[in-house]
Amino acid sequence: MLQRMKSSASRTEPMSTYRSRRPPERLRFGAANDAPVPNGELLTSRDGTPLLIRPIHADDVAALQRGFSRLQPEEVRMRFLHTLTELPDQLAQRLCRLDPEQELAFVLVDRAESTEPEIYGVARAYIDTNTDGAEFALIVQRRFTGQGFGSRLLNRVIDACRVRGVQEIWGDVLAENHAMLDLCDEFGFRRESVFHDASLTRVRLHL
Ligand SMILES: CC(C)(COP(=O)(O)OP(=O)(O)OC[C@H]1O[C@@H](n2cnc3c(N)ncnc32)[C@H](O)[C@@H]1OP(=O)(O)O)[C@@H](O)C(=O)NCCC(=O)NCCS
Repeated sequence: MLQRMKSSASRTEPMSTYRSRRPPERLRFGAANDAPVPNGELLTSRDGTPLLIRPIHADDVAALQRGFSRLQPEEVRMRFLHTLTELPDQLAQRLCRLDPEQELAFVLVDRAESTEPEIYGVARAYIDTNTDGAEFALIVQRRFTGQGFGSRLLNRVIDACRVRGVQEIWGDVLAENHAMLDLCDEFGFRRESVFHDASLTRVRLHL
């Protein structure tokens, strides 16, 4: 499946011609309702769960904390580069109430209208207006990994950063985190070692 795509979007393509990465075909399962909604993207997971990608809301605090509580310690360590047993209120508020000048974030949520949303994935970026660079972060809860949602969330962050004139996004990834490093390879990020910490790999993508 992806082979076909890679041949059309060869890895060796220079990074300056980044092209948003189409999710793997399998994601197209249930594509019928994949129509963009204002600021959101309707999706269906392999197990038929109706999902949506949308910008984070200031009142997503409790949903973000519930989402965090569903993560395995290993997922948390991969995302935050250290162990974290809970998402304290202040941090959760900080992660939802963004400074629109320098921050953006998108969430993968279920589409249950009736109840409070459940968050299953988050991608965010912190823009450094001095360097026109942005540090990004990404997480998809294990229940929904391997279905292209991580790529879609990262695409939203990359597109939103481009609109704001960001020249490059970067992130530090644990060197053992093959899932994330493979994803970054797919997008054309280049890898660098981090001189002060051999357990990390820095990934950079010129936009
Ligand atoms: C890394 C992560 C975000 C990937 O999310 P995802 O939704 O599974 O990603 P996608 O389905 O879009 O996968 C895209 C590509 O990533 C790579 N990838 C994803 N999961 C992988 C895995 N388990 N092993 C190896 N490569 C993997 C593959 O190259 C994949 O392409 P393919 O599906 O065509 O093979 C997710 O596993 C995660 O949240 N991990 C824990 C937190 C974390 O590591 N965050 C990054 C911190 S820097």
